[in-house]
Amino acid sequence: MSNTIFSLSGFDSFGDVAAEDDAVLNYFLATKAVENIEKNSVFMALGRKGTGKTALVRYFTEGAGVGQASKSLNLRGYPWNVHAARMDHGASPIEAYVSSWKYLIAVELASLVLSHRDSWKSLSSKTLTKFLNDNYGGTNPDLSEILRPQRLALSKLSFNPSVMGNALGGIDLERSGKDHRFGLELNALSGSIMSAVVEVAKDTGQNHIKLHFDELDQGMSTLEDDRAHMLIGLVLAAREVRRGSGSGGVEVTPVVYLRTDLWDELQFSDKNKISQTLALNIVWNGDNLLELVEARLQSKLGAGVSWSDVAESDLMRGSQRKWDHILARTFLRPRDVIHFLNIILAEAKKRAVEPTHFTNQDIINSRDEYSQYLKRELDDEIGSHWPQWEEAVQALSTISTITFGRGEFEQEYSRRKSRLNKISDDDALALLYRFSVIGYQRRSGYGGSSWAFQYTDPEAGWDNGASRFKVHPGLKEYAKLREKRGND
Ligand SMILES: Nc1ncnc2c1ncn2[C@@H]1O[C@H](COP(=O)(O)OP(=O)(O)OP(=O)(O)O)[C@@H](O)[C@H]1O
Ligand SMILES: [Mg+2]
Repeated sequence: MSNTIFSLSGFDSFGDVAAEDDAVLNYFLATKAVENIEKNSVFMALGRKGTGKTALVRYFTEGAGVGQASKSLNLRGYPWNVHAARMDHGASPIEAYVSSWKYLIAVELASLVLSHRDSWKSLSSKTLTKFLNDNYGGTNPDLSEILRPQRLALSKLSFNPSVMGNALGGIDLERSGKDHRFGLELNALSGSIMSAVVEVAKDTGQNHIKLHFDELDQGMSTLEDDRAHMLIGLVLAAREVRRGSGSGGVEVTPVVYLRTDLWDELQFSDKNKISQTLALNIVWNGDNLLELVEARLQSKLGAGVSWSDVAESDLMRGSQRKWDHILARTFLRPRDVIHFLNIILAEAKKRAVEPTHFTNQDIINSRDEYSQYLKRELDDEIGSHWPQWEEAVQALSTISTITFGRGEFEQEYSRRKSRLNKISDDDALALLYRFSVIGYQRRSGYGGSSWAFQYTDPEAGWDNGASRFKVHPGLKEYAKLREKRGND
């Protein structure tokens, strides 16, 4: 306990809720995820919205993690339609985009190693530079331009790979109809570029090179097959590049950051293997979320400040501590916590009582706005899989209690279900569970029971036969729910 009295009156905010606009590097928390990516033990980072994918990318490309050669590739505004046209018709649909992604990765790596100040000393930099100049007019092409040329020019001074004994004078990226040579030719070129990349990296002492692919979900309303195949292609290409690297002591890893809900929808044969060994799940708990909050307090109020210095100590209803009350309304994601605290902060300041501390009433007054926010975040996540999910929320609202039975849901949901809504009531409950909008009642020993939610208890799994459910507390205000029937 310190003797200083802290006040939040001069504390402007807990930060922006999106890492791209947040001063996150001033108070970045290096979690286990950082270590795993740094050590190269994974090449995929999976996390729900607001768990910190972009924060990790910024840490590695702008922050303290920048010790390795790293580049962030933001797919916001990426021309997916251009990429879709670079499909390899000689491969299965699942693998149809692997060669184009490998080429894109090779070009990005080339551009990255050439940006090293000593790269000119390496012989291989000449061929790479020539190739990039010939095709893109410079050594740092825009991500959106890499697959755009209709034809890639090759020359003796750049690359001259051969396929089945024939040297290629150039490679057409634009092809009409099925052309089975596309993948062969492009892979041969990517192989040549990669060898030169490794040479330059070796000559300049860049032993670890990483690319960070972020915002793969941007500009997508529903996950169409094309887009899913392109995502799978990137994952497979990244894995191949990572696997093929290591020669000459140069480790190359493209890291793919992806929303968990999209990953869950992808289907391809090695997916489980990747999930189990080469992907990390970004998850948080109450302890490190508290650390995250206190780091933000400390960066502005001084090193000694802790949560208990800015929140009154009296308990909330049900003898709940304030922090637990807040946490219970989140999905244990940094964005939820930061957003909630910013609303509470505004409430506390409104009272204009010094020192400005959080009271129970401030928290209660903030719940409405917070609940609206949480629903909007869910719209982004669930909407791409189930555009009419609002109909399920309306069903929950009509039931109007925070706990409910299967029969009640079936009745209200089927009443609201529109023609376009293809999700049956069983599937609706399962989907709501998958996104932790609801949990189910689970019997435990000694006649007791508990609520199983996906985000707190991922091992529990969905129970098709469950009959009682509970809505996540963060949605209580949005859906206008009461604790129980009667006069509560
Ligand atoms: N390790 C961390 N240390 C400090 N703050 C973090 C950390 N991870 C995430 N945050 C903060 O949490 C918020 C959400 O993070 P971020 O924007 O990176 O999420 P995201 O996973 O990229 O979400 P989306 O899928 O919507 O793009 C931001 O304010 C960010 O600064
Ligand atoms: Mg992000």
